[in-house]
Amino acid sequence: MNKLDSSNKQSSGIQVRAGYKTYTIAIIAIIAALIIYSPVDPLPYTFPTPLPKLEGGLKRNTILQRAERWFTGKLVGPESFAVDKNGTLYTGTADGKIFAIRNTSLTLVAHTGIQHSLCGTPEYEPQCGRPKGMKIGPDGKLYVVDSYKGLLRVNVSTGDVETLVSNEQGSDGVPFKFLNSMDISDDGIIYFTDSTYKWERRNFRYAVIETRPDGRVMQYNIKTGVCNTLISGLYLANGISLSYDQTYLLISEMSIASIRRYFIKGPRRGESDVFCDNLPGYPDNIKLNANNNYYIGLASVRFDGSSPIGSFLDLIGPYPNVKKFVTSITPLSAYNVFMPKHAMAIEIDHDGYIVNSLQDPGARIIGAVSEIFEVNGTIYIGHYQSNYLGVLKSSNIEQVETKAG
Ligand SMILES: *[C@@H]1O[C@H](CO)[C@@H](O)[C@H](O)[C@H]1NC(C)=O
Ligand SMILES: *[C@@H]1O[C@H](CO)[C@@H](O)[C@H](O)[C@H]1NC(C)=O
Ligand SMILES: *[C@@H]1O[C@H](CO)[C@@H](O)[C@H](O)[C@H]1NC(C)=O
Ligand SMILES: *[C@@H]1O[C@H](CO)[C@@H](O)[C@H](O)[C@H]1NC(C)=O
Repeated sequence: MNKLDSSNKQSSGIQVRAGYKTYTIAIIAIIAALIIYSPVDPLPYTFPTPLPKLEGGLKRNTILQRAERWFTGKLVGPESFAVDKNGTLYTGTADGKIFAIRNTSLTLVAHTGIQHSLCGTPEYEPQCGRPKGMKIGPDGKLYVVDSYKGLLRVNVSTGDVETLVSNEQGSDGVPFKFLNSMDISDDGIIYFTDSTYKWERRNFRYAVIETRPDGRVMQYNIKTGVCNTLISGLYLANGISLSYDQTYLLISEMSIASIRRYFIKGPRRGESDVFCDNLPGYPDNIKLNANNNYYIGLASVRFDGSSPIGSFLDLIGPYPNVKKFVTSITPLSAYNVFMPKHAMAIEIDHDGYIVNSLQDPGARIIGAVSEIFEVNGTIYIGHYQSNYLGVLKSSNIEQVETKAG
């Protein structure tokens, strides 16, 4: 090797290093630009560790694989359910419709918004409506929260829809943005959640990633028509249920995998605490079951082994800039790839312990669970994205544990 050669090599090495430098600066500039143009304004959040293990009440099982799919292709995202005295089941779908289900027949009852061939797409969701939580009130009428249309009352015989509180009206001067779930007490108070005052339902993944305490619970008095905010500062307030004795509310704080308890009666009235946290997934709807425990659907799971990287949201949680970067390069429709294929709902007792779970490892029959609604020995399984109604006999569920961590 002669002198000339080696000096040539050295100078080309310098050029290569200068090239790398330019390249690195360009990449940093692109990332910075993407972060700046990111749709979200996230907060850091550190989840509890370690991730839950599939043991005790969470022992791996295939109970959900015993479910049947009903009405495949006829229902778009039946998420939540109500039942009347006659045993007729009601559900709302992603195209703005409310259906009645009697035995095995499906009947269209009402529309909450316009009727259009593009209902069911994110573009048309605000016009078409998205009925979510519903329940028959003490007056026998069907009350519904629609993510876009407000708190509604529906006459299921005529299909008439009456707006009690619109999203524009909102509560305490703040419009509703993303109504989600509700329950009604025996004394005629409707408790309902607005998941965030910032994001619409169709953009909920941004709200999950932002991890901001933008959610609220409202109370509406059926007799007086007065609506006011009961709780604010919740992290993606999703499912809500009165307790078995109607002394407290349980609220899913979906984006932080936690359930909050808020007392509405008794000596602790007005106080709230964490009922259970570090859940094996992101909690969606909460429903009392036949054991007087609570079934909680998990929209997506986070447990030890649920994915090779652990849990995506746990991983990016503490880093707002990483969240900005991820949201700037990932279209909303692509986030399903981060969701492990394992459907799960949990059963929680009055002390907040997970006593049982319903699972479909591999998501073979049930893709994921928003709600488990048990009535008269039958379990209805709803999910905001499924195109069928999951139906399972309660007798398929073995009790795993009486008490577990
Ligand atoms: C229950 O069924 C009876 C008889 O068909 C009907 O008159 C009544 O309106 C129904 N009640 C409800 C809540 O749908
Ligand atoms: C409850 O289930 C039983 C047995 O399947 C059925 O005969 C009865 O009609 C059901 N009741 C209601 C209210 O749906
Ligand atoms: C279900 O079907 C049975 C028999 O066909 C009928 O007697 C019953 O009234 C139906 N239940 C409802 C809720 O429509
Ligand atoms: C539904 O509307 C009809 C006709 O106005 C009325 O007779 C019926 O009582 C209403 N039902 C309920 C449950 O409000």
